[in-house]
Amino acid sequence: MMPTMHQMELAGRNTVITGAGRGIGAALAGAFHDAGAKVVLADLHGAESVAANLDRSVGLKADVSTEAGNVALLAAAREANGPIDLFFANAGVAAGTDVEDTTEDDWANSFAVNVHAHRWAAKHLLPEWLERGEGYFCSTASAAGLLAQIGSGPYSVTKHAAVAFAEYMSITYGDRGINVTCLCPQGVNTEMLNAGVGATTGTNVVKAAGAVLEPEDVARAVVVAIEQEKFFVLPHPEVAHYMQLKANDPDRWLGGMRKLQRTVKGR
Ligand SMILES: NC(=O)c1ccc[n+]([C@@H]2O[C@H](COP(=O)([O-])OP(=O)(O)OC[C@H]3O[C@@H](n4cnc5c(N)ncnc54)[C@H](O)[C@@H]3O)[C@@H](O)[C@H]2O)c1
Repeated sequence: MMPTMHQMELAGRNTVITGAGRGIGAALAGAFHDAGAKVVLADLHGAESVAANLDRSVGLKADVSTEAGNVALLAAAREANGPIDLFFANAGVAAGTDVEDTTEDDWANSFAVNVHAHRWAAKHLLPEWLERGEGYFCSTASAAGLLAQIGSGPYSVTKHAAVAFAEYMSITYGDRGINVTCLCPQGVNTEMLNAGVGATTGTNVVKAAGAVLEPEDVARAVVVAIEQEKFFVLPHPEVAHYMQLKANDPDRWLGGMRKLQRTVKGR
């Protein structure tokens, strides 16, 4: 069957996934590999050992919290597999808690990894992609970027910025051959959920809000969305409903979020 206009084939594509040393990124790497892609896995730690179990794959040590780190990653990935077809900015940090208790370092690193890394990668991919008239930019934001993260100022703010950047990319470059997909899960069973930001509050709120999915379930949903060139991936369908509630009546939605906060924080 001929692919339709809106069908992206992952087989044979050169892909790069950040934060692929564990969790959602490692599951994405496995799912892309199973779909036939060549995968470069990048992380501060662990990418090499995940890649060792996948053929057609390379694991690289990379720090995406600086522009130079992104430039070095893109160069190493191009050297390994040639021009990059799809880049997945998935690395993320869940640092900091509420505003009065969050250090400036936690704010800075949250912006660096959760937001600036996305635009640094895009900045150094776009010239090549626009010349080719083709490229696929994916990012992992979060349902926290569409709704809010109770118990973390930096996570709420930076994940909203990540969604905004992905929307901006789609609007600005969508007519020039650039596809964009933005993953916005709620709870996923990874080290971040179980030991991350304000661990107890974060985990409690996510568990109170809905089901916790396995990373492999999320990765499968991403592959389907990419094949269909869909912008949002919402592996928890209730997130679309919460977005509607927020849009329909923001004051009522904020009241509901405060009630949820009282439940999870016990105050
Ligand atoms: N787990 C959840 O419930 C959940 C929900 C919504 C969104 N997310 C998002 O999914 C993405 C993946 O998170 P996860 O749940 O797999 O967590 P995780 O902590 O298991 O994995 C995140 C990975 O990112 C890497 N990373 C962090 N800073 C980096 C840097 N400077 N350079 C390179 N790599 C770096 C870490 O080393 C780690 O391996 C993140 O963006 C996270 O915010 C997670």
